[in-house]
Amino acid sequence: MNALAAFHLRAAAIYVALGMAAGIAMAASQHFEYGPAHGHLNLLGFASSAIYGLVLKDRPDLAATRFAVAHAILAHLGLVVMTIGLTILFSGDVATGEPVAKAGSVLVLLGGLAFIKLVFAATRRSI
Ligand code: HEM
Repeated sequence: MNALAAFHLRAAAIYVALGMAAGIAMAASQHFEYGPAHGHLNLLGFASSAIYGLVLKDRPDLAATRFAVAHAILAHLGLVVMTIGLTILFSGDVATGEPVAKAGSVLVLLGGLAFIKLVFAATRRSI
């Protein structure tokens, strides 16, 4: 498998384990206010990264481009920054958490826009 697809899939596996552990900790401690951080770590982290990995696994030519690497940086850096921001925000420190969550979410969005280009390239008709 190409290196970038493997990176996305491995990251997805790590995110879901972290997300589940956070879910159990959240439930055990009755701190349900952290639900959005947990939900985003699982859905943006696990589910989205797994899809990025599967798309790029199918297209090693695309995975070898700088654009695909830039997308990976935006997606993963954005997720980590956003999850930290959401965690701080929902702990009650809105003044610190909100700008961090906003910055992370913009990176995530840029990654999402980059993924449009990757998916359109991956699904182009070959006839
Ligand atoms: C061991 C596994 C997991 C545990 C123990 C767990 C636990 C929880 C808990 C306690 C909540 C808060 C519920 C509430 O506010 O009433 C929650 C919310 C949520 N979980 Fe999980 N979860 C797990 C795995 C997952 C996975 C794998 C995903 C997605 C792929 C996921 C997505 C979500 C979402 C979207 C929410 C709603 C967040 C929100 O309210 O903003 N969870 N989970």
